[in-house]
Amino acid sequence: QLALQTSVFGRKALILDSTLSTQGDVQQMAEQGQAEGAVVLAEEQTGGRGRFGRKWFSPPGKGIWMSILLRPEQPLRNTPQLTLLTGVAVCRAVRAHTGADAGIKWPNDLLINGRKMCGILLESAVEDHELRYCIAGIGVDVNFELTDYPEDLTSIATSIKVETGQQVDRTKLTAAILNEMEHLYLLYQREGFGVIASLWEALSVSIHREVKVSNPQGDIEGTAIGLDPSGALIVEKSSGERITVVSGEISLID
Ligand code: BTN
Repeated sequence: QLALQTSVFGRKALILDSTLSTQGDVQQMAEQGQAEGAVVLAEEQTGGRGRFGRKWFSPPGKGIWMSILLRPEQPLRNTPQLTLLTGVAVCRAVRAHTGADAGIKWPNDLLINGRKMCGILLESAVEDHELRYCIAGIGVDVNFELTDYPEDLTSIATSIKVETGQQVDRTKLTAAILNEMEHLYLLYQREGFGVIASLWEALSVSIHREVKVSNPQGDIEGTAIGLDPSGALIVEKSSGERITVVSGEISLID
């Protein structure tokens, strides 16, 4: 039904009408010993979660709300790389499947024409400083109309349909995302992060741009110049000083 070309990702898939958050459902499956690649999809989430404890607006029927279980055997410090890998996979699938000019804002917001249509939440279970498993949560605003958004989102959010004028088949797009995910995940395990970093940089709307990094210690402005080997963003201030941004948020300055 999903038109999958994968051998692992999405082969075990739970498809729900409504759930609190697919992240919680996959966590439960992980704790019960479910194998890598298991997926939960929901038509609607009543408690969808975003980064920094934000809510993720997940009404029925118009988006892709999906979580994937990953069990990478790698050091904990490399997990940010999986966030970037997931962003690349979704971005490539959206571009190939819909023709939309989607780009990535560091670390993992997907934008079309400067507005966000997809968010990624990577959560990790850690024990004794070791990574047990990760849950890659993907939320894509597919067939929303602008009028579907609550007022506080209209200036920042958009959907693939709003930007392309086309209704998109969510089942096919979901399969395309899982196909890309598995392809890139195998590539990453075989060849390391370098190839993912190059793909990310090519799709990025942040690189070579003036950015503002929001930080509890104060904002930093500079030019985003690339990723370091761990997946952190390197920002060069006008003084020439280079700063490595490990997590947080950036905004693009025009
Ligand atoms: C963000 O941009 O803050 C990340 C949003 C992630 C949303 C997805 S939807 C599927 C999965 N389940 C959740 O509760 N959140 C993620």
